[in-house]
Amino acid sequence: GSAATAVGPLNDKRVVISAGGTREPLDPVRFLGNRSSGKQGIALARAAVAAGARVDLVAANIDWGLLSALPDGVRITTVESTLELQTQMHAVQADADVIIMAAAVADYRPAGRTDSKMKKSGDEGMTLSLVQNPDVLVGLVESRREPQVIVGFAAETGDSHHTALDYARAKFRRKGVDLLVFNNVSEDRAFGHDDNAVQILSHDGDQVVTSTEFHGSKDDVSEKVIEALANRMECVES
Ligand code: CTP
Ligand code: CA
Repeated sequence: GSAATAVGPLNDKRVVISAGGTREPLDPVRFLGNRSSGKQGIALARAAVAAGARVDLVAANIDWGLLSALPDGVRITTVESTLELQTQMHAVQADADVIIMAAAVADYRPAGRTDSKMKKSGDEGMTLSLVQNPDVLVGLVESRREPQVIVGFAAETGDSHHTALDYARAKFRRKGVDLLVFNNVSEDRAFGHDDNAVQILSHDGDQVVTSTEFHGSKDDVSEKVIEALANRMECVES
C-alpha cells in the first residue's frame, strides 16, 4: 500500500529527518566535507514510513544512488552547507511531530569564502582559517514546542579517562534531546563493517535511561529508533 494508508505506531505523524553530511564552501568549486552517504537517514525514512509516518527528508549531499531505497511519498529537500541545513530545519520544524538529526554536521566552516576560484601563490603551503558552525540540534531543541520529540545521533569512542558511554551521556544532557542514538565506535570493539553497536539514551525526569546495547545494520538501528520513538510519544501523550 502507499504511505498514506500505512498503519503503525507513527500513524500520520510528521517526521523530519536530516541525512547525509554538510559541505562548507571554500570557493565556487571547492568545499570541506565528510564521507557521510546518508544511508542511516534513508534507512530511518524507510522505517518511519513503514510505521505510518509522513516523512520529510532534508538531504545534505547524500549519495543519490541510495534514492531507489526511498519509499514513495517521502518529501525531499536538498541543502549543501550547515547554515542552509539550519535554515531548512527551522523552516519545517513547526509542522513536525518528530525531528531526527541523522546528518553529519560540519563543526567548522571556512571563515570566508571567495567568489572566484582560489589561486596558488608562490610555493609555500597555506593555512585555512575556520569558524565554528552553530549547533543545529541545540537550536531546534531551544525553539521547539512540546510535545515535539527530538532525536540526536552520536558516534563516540572511549579514551583513558572516560568510556564512550560516558561521553554519550554527557552529550545527551548537553543537547537537551529526548533520545540520543549512541553508536559505540571504540577501536577495541569487534564488529563487521555493516554492524553497529548502539544504545539509545532517553530520560525519565532527571534520570538518564540507557537501553541495553544491540548490534545490527542501519536498518536494524532504524527499527529500534522508531520503536523508542513510539514509546516516547505514548508517554508524552498519556
Ligand atoms: N549536530 C548539529 N549541529 C552541529 C553539530 C552536530 O545539529 N553543529 C548534531 C548531529 O546531527 C547529531 C548530534 O548533533 O545529531 C551530535 O553530533 P556530534 O558531532 O556527535 O556532536 P558535537 O556537539 O559536534 O560534539 P563533538 O565535539 O563530539 O563533535
Ligand atoms: Ca561534531
